[in-house]
Amino acid sequence: MDLNPQARQMADESMVRNLDAQARAIWPQERPLFSRYALPPEANILDAGCGTGEISSRVAELYPRARVLGVDIIDEHLDLARARYAPLANRLRFEHQSVFDLDLRDEDFDLVLCRHVLHSIPHMDGVINELLRVTRTGGYIHLIPEDYGMLHFQRGEPDAREFWHEVPATMGPATGIDLFSGRDVYEVLQRSSVDEIRIEYVVVDPIRVPRETFAAIIEAWRDGYAAPIGQATSIDERSAIRYFDRMIADIRNPQKYAVWMVPVVSARKTHAGVAASAEACAAGAATRSRPDAASVTGAA
Ligand SMILES: C[S@@+](CC[C@H](N)C(=O)[O-])C[C@H]1O[C@@H](n2cnc3c(N)ncnc32)[C@H](O)[C@@H]1O
Repeated sequence: MDLNPQARQMADESMVRNLDAQARAIWPQERPLFSRYALPPEANILDAGCGTGEISSRVAELYPRARVLGVDIIDEHLDLARARYAPLANRLRFEHQSVFDLDLRDEDFDLVLCRHVLHSIPHMDGVINELLRVTRTGGYIHLIPEDYGMLHFQRGEPDAREFWHEVPATMGPATGIDLFSGRDVYEVLQRSSVDEIRIEYVVVDPIRVPRETFAAIIEAWRDGYAAPIGQATSIDERSAIRYFDRMIADIRNPQKYAVWMVPVVSARKTHAGVAASAEACAAGAATRSRPDAASVTGAA
């Protein structure tokens, strides 16, 4: 199975724009949620799938004595992050590593972030096991698993409701990913060695987020995803662009309403053994315990 079915879209310039707009839209509501984590002052924090470091840097600023490591598999994003956040380099580092097999010790991080990643790669169970492996007992994971059934637009021509009904349901299975990970992650966490499972929602709508910021997200999606949608679903590329343009026009229209509900999911690791998930094992997820991780029984 392709472990990175969205490789091209993730590396595209539209993704850099998207991550900038998403951070501006989501972080103001997400930031207060960090108060639920009891962290030591010199916390060790991992941002898994950090992209261009938008949030690694904000978290480093939020915790001024923390050490933050961002990992990703796109070197251009990592280079951009290193250049942008050079003033924080003494405690904010970026490395090329895959979330499927982190080259990191067990139980090393007080807080592990994984934002906007789980919906774009297969084996969510295995990846969560790997994130929990490197989280210390009593530490937290903080996830944004996107869910494309949580976008709502008014009726129109073309009707965005048809688009969101068709695209995630078809494209997910066609590319081996779960575009409804926002709701499905709960079951995965229920099977894992965690407690304090929490799901809050950041609401991206024109009341809470500037219309231009919201529109910039959908514009970036259009520019990056219309072509693959055309290939994987019954909606061809031109039609996909028309749907996206309708959504963008509505978001810009002061009379109209649209909303993207963004789940922010967290849980506290209760003990070192991570429950193996049947699906992840059966799927042969790439996640592996470290040789010295006798207590980790994640997907092997
Ligand atoms: C939508 S971006 C989110 C970036 C960042 N977390 C944020 O919230 O701004 C998803 C990122 O996950 C990265 N990614 C995909 N597969 C990965 C893997 N196996 N290991 C590490 N990062 C991965 C992509 O390269 C991309 O930069």
